[in-house]
This record gives sequence, C-alpha cells and structure tokens, in this order.
Amino acid sequence: MPTPLANWNGELLPLDEVRVSVMDRSFLFGDAVYEAIRVYAGRPFLLAEHLDRLRRSLEKLRIDADVDRFAERLHTTLQHSGVQEGLIYMHISRGAAAVRTHYFPIASTTPNELIFVKELTREPYGDLHARGARVITYPDVRWKRCDIKSANLLGNVLASQAAVDAGCDEAILVADDGSITEGSHTSLFGVDDGAIITAPLEANVLPGITRSLVVRLAQEAGIEVREWMIDRDTITRLDEVFITGTTVDVLSVVEIDGETVGNGKPGPVTQRLRAAYLRLV
Ligand code: PDD
Repeated sequence: MPTPLANWNGELLPLDEVRVSVMDRSFLFGDAVYEAIRVYAGRPFLLAEHLDRLRRSLEKLRIDADVDRFAERLHTTLQHSGVQEGLIYMHISRGAAAVRTHYFPIASTTPNELIFVKELTREPYGDLHARGARVITYPDVRWKRCDIKSANLLGNVLASQAAVDAGCDEAILVADDGSITEGSHTSLFGVDDGAIITAPLEANVLPGITRSLVVRLAQEAGIEVREWMIDRDTITRLDEVFITGTTVDVLSVVEIDGETVGNGKPGPVTQRLRAAYLRLV
C-alpha cells in the first residue's frame, strides 16, 4: 500500500517523510487533540460536526490554532490524495518548546498541525456487520475529561489491546460504579423494548459524532431515545446492543465476555438504524 498523503503545517508530502521534534508536547505529554473523519465518495462525512468538536477540544486545552485554515488544508489534501473511500486523520499539538515543563511553555509555541488521508474501502467491516461484533468488558481507567478528544489515549489503547488479546473486536469500558461509559474507540447503545439507550454526554464520554447522528436518525424514525447509564450486570439482558463510530458506523454487538446478547445475531433496531445511516451516506 502506498504511504498516505499528509499535510504537515501546510506542506503536502508523503506521510512517512513527516518529521517532528522530540520536544513536541504531543510526544512528551500527549498534549494534542485529534479527529478522525470518514470519506465517502470523495467527500468528508459530517465535516462541520467534526470541526466543531475539534474547536471545542482546542479551546478546553487552550491550544491556539486556526481551524478555518486547517479546514482549507484538509480540502486541499483530500483533493490531492484522490481518495474516494477513506479516513482523514487530523492532529494538532501545542507545538515544540525549548524546555520540558509540565505547565504551558512560557514563550508561546506554534501548534504543529498534521492531516493525512488513507484509503478505507466502504465495507472494511463487511463480515463483521453481517455477523455482529464480539466484545470484552475492561475497566475504564481513563482520566476524567473524556469529553476532550485528546491524543492521550493509554486507557483506550490498553482496552483495545485486551480485546485483541481475547480475539474480540472491541472493549467496552466499565466505570468504578459498574456502569458502562463507551467503547475504546466507539460509543455504546442498548435497545430495550424498542427504545434505544446511551450514556448522557458528560465528562466521562466522548460526544461521538456518529452517536449524535444515530440519536437524530432514531428520533426521526419515531424510536424513543433514553440517555442513561447501562449497567455491566444487566447489559446482556437488553434486546440488542450496538456500537457507533467513525470507523465502525453502526455495528451490532452479539457477544459480551462470552455471553450472548439477544439471539446472537444483529437485531432489528440496530439494522434499521444502520440502514438509515447508509441511506444518509
Ligand atoms: N474514535 N468514543 C471514543 C473513546 C472514541 O475514540 C471514538 C472515536 C468514539 C466515536 O466517536 P465518533 O462517532 O465521533 O467517531 C467514541 C476515533 C474513530 C479514533 O480514535 O480513531
């Protein structure tokens, strides 16, 4: 596979030629924010929503970057890449400082801005969507500001690796009180008696762009939406469970820690919402 096309601070070049200082605060502290956007038919999907979330993440961390200029670079990069079905990764760090200090550098730094576009065919999860995902539960050991899409992802990385070690597709994260917040890189939904349930948007979950879209699609289809926490103890008694996200779109969960959900096949409400998602695409 050829190396993806990157945009590094405004310059187009192959991704494997991008070079960054080890003093970049993203390298030293994970002091950076990011977004991943799906490309369908050569166009970025839900771009305005992703840029809004990027702005909010930057503001919360007081990183001063020009998002309008960044968006222009994104369009240029996508156009030059020629990618039709893919994923755009965007990353803005606070930049490199002369001295390593935990607090923000005294002399203001210039944010380092990376974009790259890679191919992702329309149905990379084709089989998975047909059979449904198998997931494990994993303790939610992340920090308390998961509403910020920061590049500080060790809690997510460890959970995702535990899923791979178990031969599963995703890890869903259990908080100290036994409630499930979300997946390692997905939002979580349950289906109970025809209604869908998902965690309320508080500091312990990422406000997923696909999550908001699915909530809207459900409301338009007359499906009731309940925003409350799902418990680890009762999740497998729900009629259906599914996860959503930029990479998985709407994906049924048929097994949790080896226990079957519903009849072990993707359920009707999940399939209906996925069909609505694909129609919109
Ligand atoms: N992850 N929750 C977490 C912790 C995530 O990292 C993501 C996305 C989601 C789903 O959000 P959205 O619908 O906006 O993609 C929920 C991206 C894809 C990633 O880390 O690559």
